[in-house]
Amino acid sequence: MIIIGSVREGRFGPAAASWVAAQARTHGGFEVEVVDLAEADIPLSLPAAPPKFAGPDYPRPAGLAETTRKLAEADAFIIVTPEYNHSYPASVKAVIDWHYTQWTAKPVAFVSYGGPAGGRHAVLHLENVLTELHAVTIRDGLAFPNFFTGWQDGEPLDAAAAGYAKTLLEQLSWWATALRAARAANPYPGGS
Ligand SMILES: Cc1cc2nc3c(=O)[nH]c(=O)nc-3n(C[C@H](O)[C@H](O)[C@H](O)COP(=O)(O)O)c2cc1C
Repeated sequence: MIIIGSVREGRFGPAAASWVAAQARTHGGFEVEVVDLAEADIPLSLPAAPPKFAGPDYPRPAGLAETTRKLAEADAFIIVTPEYNHSYPASVKAVIDWHYTQWTAKPVAFVSYGGPAGGRHAVLHLENVLTELHAVTIRDGLAFPNFFTGWQDGEPLDAAAAGYAKTLLEQLSWWATALRAARAANPYPGGS
């Protein structure tokens, strides 16, 4: 599941995600689904109980149901994120906070973009947050610094980018296979 994290008017996110999806399809080890957070209803206001304790009966808006189903079904995630004020967009935090078990014991990789830091501040924060949900973050991310000059016609100009994407996808595939088998063999001892 490739998540387009930005929902901003005129955003770059869909172009980046489309290229990432093409890399994942070329890799061949994934059934690729691109999910655009701009198409979901993700309110900032949450129910009283955290989703961690409410389980599958957590009362989510109807407009979030499809996203929830896809998160639950996915064995691996790539979050495509920009950097907003040295972190990731509120849309990404909101979709994380509306869920819990959907992330647990699953691998998450990152493709980021921004100014000189290439969105890495956003990724550092995401790694921190997703650990709380017992997700497994993939070390080798793909960052596009100064993407506004580094992309043309939906492709990065850096000839090495596809190779970095392949490394990320290899690591994601390894963890997805291992964790899917482990989840099937034994319920994850998430605890509280
Ligand atoms: C609210 C806001 C804050 C931003 N803060 C940063 C930042 O801290 N670091 C950075 O590299 N770029 C920053 N930018 C520039 C974004 O990298 C750039 O606008 C990018 O296009 C955002 O991704 P999007 O088009 O997919 O929304 C910021 C942009 C916005 C809208």
